Amino acid sequence: MTRRLEGTVALITGASSGIGHATASELAREGASVALVGRRKDRLADLAAEITNAGGRALVVPADITDAHAAAEAVERTVEELGRLDTLVNNAGLMLLGPAPGADVNDWRRMIDVNLMGLMYTTHAAVPHLLRAAAEQPRQVADIVNIGSLAGRIAFGMSAVYCATKFGVGAFSEALRQELARQHVRVSVVEPGSVDTELRTHNPAAVQQQLDAHFGDIERLQSQDIADALSYIVTRPRHVAIAELLVRPTEQV
Ligand SMILES: NC(=O)c1ccc[n+]([C@@H]2O[C@H](COP(=O)([O-])OP(=O)(O)OC[C@H]3O[C@@H](n4cnc5c(N)ncnc54)[C@H](OP(=O)(O)O)[C@@H]3O)[C@@H](O)[C@H]2O)c1
Repeated sequence: MTRRLEGTVALITGASSGIGHATASELAREGASVALVGRRKDRLADLAAEITNAGGRALVVPADITDAHAAAEAVERTVEELGRLDTLVNNAGLMLLGPAPGADVNDWRRMIDVNLMGLMYTTHAAVPHLLRAAAEQPRQVADIVNIGSLAGRIAFGMSAVYCATKFGVGAFSEALRQELARQHVRVSVVEPGSVDTELRTHNPAAVQQQLDAHFGDIERLQSQDIADALSYIVTRPRHVAIAELLVRPTEQV
């Protein structure tokens, strides 16, 4: 198989589980050197070992991206140790559900801090390096892929602030896309429907039961399905930008 990202470097936030984990493996299979960002260092180290054993190159970069300084340091370390940055995948996220009236506002702040501020801090630090990569070989194009959500297209009850963050991801992405398009830094949003990951497990058992009841026995997406979508986006030729990709489980209405 031709490895379409040979010679490039990708940074993936939230690489310790779920979609980020699958995406890092997929981009490494395509030949990218990958920087694995997240707070759970042991999980990142396990993934790095898997990638290395399969002949790839991976760097463990433990960081809490809600800290602007830590997010910037993660980007700088990636460039220092892997040499460049071609692809930024802003995947780290948190979904805390429940009715807005009476909610703990700290839960709201935590979601905004990760889903929006963390994404923006990491992007802010990465853009100068992405602009440089986009002006260079091997691809003369660079990518920012932001993981939004179906909840960034349609607002649902019980998830007002999660939806607000994901609508925000869509707005930030589109504005940034316009700003960077002429310099060949593409900005894309992938909007998954329900994916079988740990995301829901940060909620109380009662909320998880409500989610189970809502989705019933439909076959959910797997993280690899989203990694495939993302791989498609970043391997397009230089003149093709997939700005938005909504991926639902077939049975999700
Ligand atoms: N699962 C779904 O149904 C679904 C649907 C639509 C969109 N999404 C989006 O997909 C993305 C990935 O979620 P997932 O489903 O794969 O869930 P997940 O397995 O819970 O992954 C979330 C990742 O975010 C990282 N993270 C959280 N807070 C962080 C912080 N402060 N600093 C650095 N990393 C942090 C976590 O790593 P650490 O804990 O190690 O820091 C973890 O690797 C999220 O943006 C989510 O909103 C998911």
